Amino acid sequence: MDTSKHTVISTQEMPIVTIPNAANLASALDFFSAVRDLGEPVVHTFNGAMETYVINDPEMIRQIFVTKQGHFIKGRGLQEIRPLVGNGVLTSEKTEHKTQRAMMQPHFNMAHIGTYTDKMVEMTLQTMDHWQEGEVRDTTDDMMEITMDIITHTMFGTSVKEFIEEIRESMHVALTKFSARVREPHKLTAADEASMRQAVVTLNTVIAKIIEDRRQHPQEGSRDLLSILLRTGMSDEELRDQVMTIFLAGHETTANTLAWTWYLLSQHPEVEQKLWHELDTVLGGRPATYEDYNKLTYTHLIIQESMRLYPAAWVVGRTVDEDVQIGNYQFSKGQNVSMSQWAMHRNPAYYDRPDAFLPERFDGDLLKRIPSYAYFPFGGGPRVCIGNNFALLEAALVLATVGQRYKLVLEDADQLEPEPLITLRPKNLRMRVVKR
Ligand code: HEM
Repeated sequence: MDTSKHTVISTQEMPIVTIPNAANLASALDFFSAVRDLGEPVVHTFNGAMETYVINDPEMIRQIFVTKQGHFIKGRGLQEIRPLVGNGVLTSEKTEHKTQRAMMQPHFNMAHIGTYTDKMVEMTLQTMDHWQEGEVRDTTDDMMEITMDIITHTMFGTSVKEFIEEIRESMHVALTKFSARVREPHKLTAADEASMRQAVVTLNTVIAKIIEDRRQHPQEGSRDLLSILLRTGMSDEELRDQVMTIFLAGHETTANTLAWTWYLLSQHPEVEQKLWHELDTVLGGRPATYEDYNKLTYTHLIIQESMRLYPAAWVVGRTVDEDVQIGNYQFSKGQNVSMSQWAMHRNPAYYDRPDAFLPERFDGDLLKRIPSYAYFPFGGGPRVCIGNNFALLEAALVLATVGQRYKLVLEDADQLEPEPLITLRPKNLRMRVVKR
């Protein structure tokens, strides 16, 4: 293919590429790696359900996220979860998105997020109190419980812990079925559709409880997100959409990131030792405070490297809304583009030993040496994750708080599987809780 400077390539004329061995690829993750390994900036693919142009070039990704973002709307994956998150800040578009984002942004600035430190630590300690030393637990579920407690307490000043089983179940149904809608719609049965609707009803009930709680017990002077949303006078439906969006986007991804991090630590005792050393030196056995956060530098490297290898958002899509040229390629309205953090973060062109877990690689100028969108766990541009600072603080504090007390040891390693749905979660992550 000619990608010389002045030739503009019409994507409409690009043939659909057949991925060698596609039938034998275990998962969508392998599919995106195989597409990357073709060595082309853009690959036109069709997986039987969705036609998309996979973008493998960081500079083109930058244009899609930043300079030419106005030509795109959110992709199919997020369109499909609208029944769940409605028209909240994750899914809304154009001026509506701009208004919603501007209203919420101050709430996510570091100065404000920092005030949640004690709550984050407290919620982690509380959940850990129910763990028995020596028992084998599902670490993904545990991390989900902690991050759910944290998001509901910090953003909405309430708890939904009593519904945790229903929430877990409904989230799993929603995530599996909604992503099947994108990838394997022909396989969805009437029963699947019914369970999807039921999951939405259950989650709606939880969100309604959060809102009702506050309406019944207004908190004078409260500065949490829910009070800000209530003060804007938005309709019940708009309110539901925003609360559901923050509830879902605000706990699933961080939980998966933490779960993957525990898995990686269990496989790398030398990294685990260094983490413990840092925790003992900086914290000396006391709970972490906001002042400690910037001192937990190795903890932060571990999280960066964990998000490189197991990015919770493993693929992001956009749909072309207005014809646009990206790099040398001409795209037309209605086409889909996909950008995979999974494939990019393991690209040997940017990372030595791409599959190895080496937190030290981020200690230095790596992020300055590689193109900016060779690492994009939080996306980019005006639609960059609004919760990125929140997530990084939370991940560090949970890691530090659990890591001060316990070591998690992988059991039933052969059962563990990456489950690439809308997010990338470790399925069957069974770990034994051992006192350090
Ligand atoms: C490690 C944890 C997290 C990861 C990896 C992550 C990743 C992402 C990514 C990649 C996007 C961009 C999606 C796109 O461009 O289509 C995004 C958007 C978003 N995230 Fe996160 N996220 C995390 C944590 C959080 C948290 C803790 C919150 C809330 C407290 C949150 C709320 C949101 C919202 C509201 C958006 C939509 C922003 C917009 O479109 O303006 N995320 N996230």
